[in-house]
Amino acid sequence: MSKKELLVTDKLPKHIAIIMDGNGRWAKQQGMLRTFGHANGVTAVRDVTEAAAELGISVLTLYAFSTENWNRPKFEIDALMSLLVQTISKETDTLMKNNIRLATIGDTDSLPDGVKEKLQKAIDRTSGNTRMTLVLALSYSSRWEITKAAQEIAKEVKEGRLSIDDINEVTIASHLSTSEWPDPELMIRTSGETRISNYLLWQLAYAELYFTTKLWPDFQKEDFYEAIYNFQNRERRFGMTSEQVK
Ligand code: IPE
Ligand code: IPE
Ligand code: MG
Repeated sequence: MSKKELLVTDKLPKHIAIIMDGNGRWAKQQGMLRTFGHANGVTAVRDVTEAAAELGISVLTLYAFSTENWNRPKFEIDALMSLLVQTISKETDTLMKNNIRLATIGDTDSLPDGVKEKLQKAIDRTSGNTRMTLVLALSYSSRWEITKAAQEIAKEVKEGRLSIDDINEVTIASHLSTSEWPDPELMIRTSGETRISNYLLWQLAYAELYFTTKLWPDFQKEDFYEAIYNFQNRERRFGMTSEQVK
């Protein structure tokens, strides 16, 4: 039986974040170049996006390229960027058909012009879609994002638009690039690594973390349902006692 049938529909996370990891190792296992793994990771992106939309998840955030990934060999970065352009061109019609809005978080100004243009076009074209928002974290790192928020808040204080005493958690959250969405309740990382790698540090404060050894190109809809099923069978206490949350 599929785990999908065991999911409790009124206990689904509104926002799921994923670290899509293991493309390089997947390719290496088959004696291929790392870039072959990235190309095959696109299928998993498509499957998981479709599964999330079908379930009624509101926001799906995928870590596609980190600030630190700029330190990879140029050949791999170039391959990732052209894959991004190709995928956006190919998939925008599907996003339209499925009523999915595309958004990005991260320092997208640092992306090559060709990528920026394609992204902006897809973002504009899908901006009215309401079923789900697919957020791509591109040239993203949490420390970059938090630093930028601190700069903006300091500027508002300096210009007299904000008083220091009024700075609270809401102020900080509202200066992050994820301000329009609720925090992810579930964060999934593939490939067996059990770290956060500079992803959504603020937003994941109370997320449930789910790690699987599956490499990203092998991650399928059923694996996604399994992660949500696991999430639904945890007790989220938020600092309280088990008795209090029952
Ligand atoms: C994730 O797979 C994709 C990106 C980081 C862009 P990796 O490329 O990190 O693959 P591994 O972790 O080296 O196997
Ligand atoms: C995290 O994966 C970034 C993305 C999936 C885009 P990495 O493979 O870059 O992370 P580390 O270096 O293993 O922590
Ligand atoms: Mg990796």
